[in-house]
Amino acid sequence: MTEIKFNTKWLDKLNDPKRLEIQPTQTMWEALGGEESWTSLIDIGAGTGFFSKEFLKFMPQGKVLALDIKDTMLEWMAENLKEVKEGRIIPCKMQEAATPLEDEVGDAAMMINLHHELHEPARMLQEVLRILRPGGKVLIVDWLPIETPMGPPQKIRVTPQAIEAQLTTQGFTQVEAHDILPMHSCVVGQKPPLT
Ligand SMILES: C[S@@+](CC[C@H](N)C(=O)[O-])C[C@H]1O[C@@H](n2cnc3c(N)ncnc32)[C@H](O)[C@@H]1O
Repeated sequence: MTEIKFNTKWLDKLNDPKRLEIQPTQTMWEALGGEESWTSLIDIGAGTGFFSKEFLKFMPQGKVLALDIKDTMLEWMAENLKEVKEGRIIPCKMQEAATPLEDEVGDAAMMINLHHELHEPARMLQEVLRILRPGGKVLIVDWLPIETPMGPPQKIRVTPQAIEAQLTTQGFTQVEAHDILPMHSCVVGQKPPLT
């Protein structure tokens, strides 16, 4: 059976700044429709907090709740990120599709390079709906099922169409796939606002 979880042996790879050449944060932030006034962004599968740090730059008053299932990642962030010491990135342990967060705490949630590792995407998306405020946004970015010089095995990659369908089925609205990254899908959705 293919091991689908990220091997923490390769943790340093996550901190390679060259990653921003193929996954520029400004491009992803614009697709998400990010707003400077946001105060709470939830990074699910944060790893070393590489993208938590980058997205924090767009939210001057904001905090990032950086969630991961692996203690190694949470410990790494706590030991190495000045933003954790400043209280602007908050590492937080979660289970496969369950977070310890209260309802409706997030202006937005993101999952970057995570979807292919999920055992239960539908349950995860239900959890995202629970922790987003009404009108909150979700950003899912993951490896396209195309030939790429790096990335996870082809057989666990997911199409943007499949991610769009999962979001719609779980109750997100305004679901849209943005064809803006060379090796990754970029799909955005919204928790329905209160009417
Ligand atoms: C490939 S890494 C990506 C890390 C980070 N998003 C980035 O792009 O730098 C995937 C991360 O997701 C975590 N992970 C895997 N399954 C998870 C789940 N169900 N819930 C939360 N985190 C998960 C892994 O432990 C790993 O740290």
